[in-house]
Amino acid sequence: MAGPYTPERDTPEKAIPKRLSRATLMGMTAAARYPDLGDRKTMAQGIKAQDADLVTGSLAPVTYKPVSVCGVDLKLEPLSPALGTVIHGIDLDQDLDQVGIVEFLRALWLERRVIMFRDQQHLSRDGLIRFARCFGELGAHHGERDHVPSGPQTPQDYPDVLQIRSEENHPNAASEWHSDATWSSRPPMGSVLICREAPPVGGDTNFCDGYGLWQGVHRATKERIKALKAVHVGQPHHAMDGHLPKAIHPVARTHPETGRTVLFVNRVFTRQFADEHDLSEAETQNLLQELFANIGRPEVTCRFRWRQGSVAMWDNRAVQHCATADFWPHRRLMERVTILDSDVAQRTPYFTG
Ligand SMILES: [Fe+2]
Repeated sequence: MAGPYTPERDTPEKAIPKRLSRATLMGMTAAARYPDLGDRKTMAQGIKAQDADLVTGSLAPVTYKPVSVCGVDLKLEPLSPALGTVIHGIDLDQDLDQVGIVEFLRALWLERRVIMFRDQQHLSRDGLIRFARCFGELGAHHGERDHVPSGPQTPQDYPDVLQIRSEENHPNAASEWHSDATWSSRPPMGSVLICREAPPVGGDTNFCDGYGLWQGVHRATKERIKALKAVHVGQPHHAMDGHLPKAIHPVARTHPETGRTVLFVNRVFTRQFADEHDLSEAETQNLLQELFANIGRPEVTCRFRWRQGSVAMWDNRAVQHCATADFWPHRRLMERVTILDSDVAQRTPYFTG
């Protein structure tokens, strides 16, 4: 059953529009790079030719801190001051049994919000699942197993592995800031993403620090929103039995492990505040815009460039993330698993004040 990862072919052609829509970020950036307004095939060829010229070699200026953890020598590369560390020198297939390694990774993950690894292309789907299980309970595509949206993309025999695929005829990238599945009453604690195929350049994932977002809220607003709950609504592809999933969460969330406060609203799923607060539409929109204002600012983000075999594990309670939709027409294939907190009581977001 377990086997090495093998590349897959493009999805079958359905009805594909002749022109790439400029209304999407993917189309917008592609049109800016190839402004001759050709059909999508011509545009694709033109952009691929540009990229062949952009990328002909590689070098990597990297700064890091060396550490030795239980006999394993690691190099920790910070992606930004606020968050994100790439851990070099570990094999996620071989080194997890070393005493103390998982504890070290968990502590660093909590401190840096998101940790990354390079050169793990040998990691099978079983290996990916084994890694995720070191940190909690393996979740379904969107976390809790009671939510099964219709039409999930599932590799055969691996129902919990979500494939996120983009290719020339089916561009796809989650290019707006969000935390995963906050429309669920118990969103996943974390997510692990591995890159199976990467574009030569572009398609980076960005992460935004939820603690920093909380710190950036105006003092008076902080006091106001400590008592507020917000409504999070899923998108059509999250629907189950014809209904969009919906959940109500505190706007200020206490991180169950660090005890720190996170601003827990996002532009994709947070629609309004709970009915009990009786806010008008104008008040709702004004407050949401104020709370969203710092999401994605460079000072509270880091950016991770994928290569084949790169892995990222983020704390879904502490960060938001956003893909960069700038890589069409290249293929990008990612696989994701979610992790649920082993302590069921900690899965439901709460605020302790
Ligand atoms: Fe996501």
